[in-house]
Amino acid sequence: MPATVIVGAQWGDEGKGKIVDLLAQHSDFVCRYQGGPNAGHTIVCDGETFKLHHVPSGILSDGKICVVGAGCVIDPGLLVEEIDELEQRGVTTAGLRVSGNAHLIMPWHVAIDSASERRLGKLQIGTTRRGIGPAYADKAARLGIRVQDILDPKILRQKFETALAEKNRFLDEPLEAGDLADRMETCAARLRPYVADTSLLVERALKAGQKVLLEGAQGTLLDLDHGTYPFVTSSNPIAGAAATGIGIGPTRIESVIGVAKAYVTRVGEGPFPTEIEGADQERVRELGAEYGTTTGRERRCGWLDLVGLRFAARVNGMTSLALTKLDVLSTFAEIPVCVRYRLPDGSETDEFPAHQSDFHHARPIYELLPGWEEPLDGALPPAAQRYVEFVEAALELEVCMIGTGADREQVVTPRGLAGIA
Ligand code: GDP
Ligand code: IMO
Ligand code: MG
Repeated sequence: MPATVIVGAQWGDEGKGKIVDLLAQHSDFVCRYQGGPNAGHTIVCDGETFKLHHVPSGILSDGKICVVGAGCVIDPGLLVEEIDELEQRGVTTAGLRVSGNAHLIMPWHVAIDSASERRLGKLQIGTTRRGIGPAYADKAARLGIRVQDILDPKILRQKFETALAEKNRFLDEPLEAGDLADRMETCAARLRPYVADTSLLVERALKAGQKVLLEGAQGTLLDLDHGTYPFVTSSNPIAGAAATGIGIGPTRIESVIGVAKAYVTRVGEGPFPTEIEGADQERVRELGAEYGTTTGRERRCGWLDLVGLRFAARVNGMTSLALTKLDVLSTFAEIPVCVRYRLPDGSETDEFPAHQSDFHHARPIYELLPGWEEPLDGALPPAAQRYVEFVEAALELEVCMIGTGADREQVVTPRGLAGIA
């Protein structure tokens, strides 16, 4: 049984959590393959809201194995808090498995993330300040501390000593390895039972014919290699990274479902061609409740960008698209959709510019689509249907799910749920 990737097709917050939660009900494994607590995946289930940061969005479905893969970075204190909150709310975390190869976010990573944003001033990236970039940087520099290091207190202490010899030079208040190891022990003891060889677990599940979902965090345009660098995250959200992040072969992945909002949002700094000018920006923000799940920041709002989405379809090899939050557009009489960019030299293109300067100066060319001006419940009104078909035609891709509200139940599946993943 092949695995399915669920990947963000814009700048994150596309509604991946809701889509994964829905598909998880028909799957056996749900695995996060990259990112860390910069992610905020919201699931609304019978009116109750859950916000997940590390834990895969399958945790609300009974009996699923939820893997945090090797490609993730984990803040141990935050993960323990997340587990405690889920348990207190009656959600069991017995199915959670954490890769021993995942890297740990340490207090110095968080401190360095904030300090470097402050130093950048006006040039800052607008990170979530969760220590993501510095943790991935240490992983690449081979200075990282991994989940498996918490299995042995002696090893952990030695790793702290080595790391702090370097990191204390950057900290306002130097840390002492012994103190830190003692403080970490409570957390470490809580996390030990969850540590597993997750690459092997997933491979065995696939061999046994079980259904495996690979859940992306962030989104394509935040990808370290293919996104809008330097205004990106420090991992690879795109589907190709799912195999490395979990530790399975790429031949195991057969379908890739992109998740995109019916418009676009972006948190943090960086270019955003279709960002709405004028009062409609605030109107979309209010209608869509566009405030960050992790940081509470206002999300910048823009009209749907088919140039960016076509790029996302390409670099992810998407096999279908889930279009979320269509309901948010229900009160607009006309809805602009960006079909091409005008570049600084006056030429027009429907391909995403490969050069940063072209993208920074790209101007959107819109087509105005008629709105439907009625709430979306049940079957889609004809104008909403045409909006979806317009997207399908532009991307040459099937829309398999349409979000019509935040709740688990508020989704239209034109061809049914079976066969999607
Ligand atoms: P993620 O990071 O991709 O999982 O997305 P977030 O959870 O950060 O942000 C998406 C927000 O939109 C959440 O508050 C969801 O509850 C909400 N949401 C998801 N799908 C829909 C939808 O179809 N309609 C509406 N109105 N809200 C949705
Ligand atoms: P989910 O999984 C939206 C953005 C930050 C910043 C940039 C780098 O909920 O879609 P980082 O802290 O990763 O170094 O910040 O990436 N960012 C996100 N934006 N959704 C996310 O996750 C994000 N995770 C990071 O705002 O611009
Ligand atoms: Mg989010």
